[in-house]
Amino acid sequence: QIVPVILSGGSGTRLWPMSKPEMPKQLLALTSDETMLQLTAQRTASNEFAAPIVVAGQRHADLVEGQLTDAGTPPQALILEPVARNTAPAIALAALAANPEDVMLVMPSDHVIADLDAFHAAIHAALPMVSQGWLATFGIAPDKPETGYGWIQVGREIAKGVHQVARFVEKPRLERAEAMLARGDYAWNGGIFLFRADRYLEELGQHAPEMLVAAEKAMRAAKRDGKRICPDETEFGNCPSDSIDYAVMERADRVAVVPVAMGWNDVGSWDALHAISELDGFGNAHRGEVLAIDTKNCLIRTDRVRVAAVDVENLIVVASGDDVLILPRGRSQDVKKLIEAMKR
Ligand code: GDD
Ligand code: MG
Repeated sequence: QIVPVILSGGSGTRLWPMSKPEMPKQLLALTSDETMLQLTAQRTASNEFAAPIVVAGQRHADLVEGQLTDAGTPPQALILEPVARNTAPAIALAALAANPEDVMLVMPSDHVIADLDAFHAAIHAALPMVSQGWLATFGIAPDKPETGYGWIQVGREIAKGVHQVARFVEKPRLERAEAMLARGDYAWNGGIFLFRADRYLEELGQHAPEMLVAAEKAMRAAKRDGKRICPDETEFGNCPSDSIDYAVMERADRVAVVPVAMGWNDVGSWDALHAISELDGFGNAHRGEVLAIDTKNCLIRTDRVRVAAVDVENLIVVASGDDVLILPRGRSQDVKKLIEAMKR
């Protein structure tokens, strides 16, 4: 059985005001009645997969466990980070909780995958090489020079549908992203990984040994309570912070990529959500108590107050709790700027 590892520690600021530190993106129902976390767990709800190991921030323990239990996909273990140290250490905690020879399917908790069959086929394609010790990634065909993703240069085919990674470039500058897009032999990193637990720890030990040591100490001194594992705060606090992409994937040996078209979307902005939503006959994606007359190509969402609109086009309006966001479609990347401004 493959062991799903779900990473649920991100704070997701780009979907403010719905996504907030106490209720981050992955715990919200954005694309259906189920939350992104629940949808993620359901992707591996078959007997081919074990129950997931979930790594989340301590403050979200009850929400995470509650959502997964409600969805009928309770975790086998819930690793609760006392502080966030990004994905490389989070995955190390999961790898240390698993058996060394386990194959782990590491998944972000905040993505959409529309074509599950394609996803499962890609996992199957990767498995033989993963058993031999390769670290597998999943490559998405790029259609814009996105600087927020990892880019993978697809090398020679080493097994059916599986290619050696010639180069892994995490979050490039715009000029470099444009060049990679133009070359045509690069894919986006989907942020999903398949590897044996022991191989991940081996690469981490080689490229970020202080991280491995800190994660090991934190797990040795962890407090356990049923399914819940709380790594030691002092030891984990000493762990350097970095993503798996920078700390491991850019540097590791024997990295493979399976190019796959699976309707992947990381729902990184309100515009992205509008683009993947089912629209009414006028291009609107409304949700919640919305009264809209003559609106076109808008996204209006609310979780509490009633929102009423007349004769507006190409607007994003999001009301959540006491906050309201208004911007034209196409500008939702600038939510980041608002967050910065609010911090000041
Ligand atoms: N448990 C835990 N702890 N989870 C975390 C932490 C942490 O400290 N930090 C992030 N996560 C979770 C997030 O909730 C998300 O589900 C996943 O790990 C990935 O983290 P992001 O912060 O969203 O990464 P990113 O979007 O900048 O980049 C990654 O994903 C891209 C695709 O969406 C990289 O893998 C890129 O290479 C990739 O292209
Ligand atoms: Mg992300």
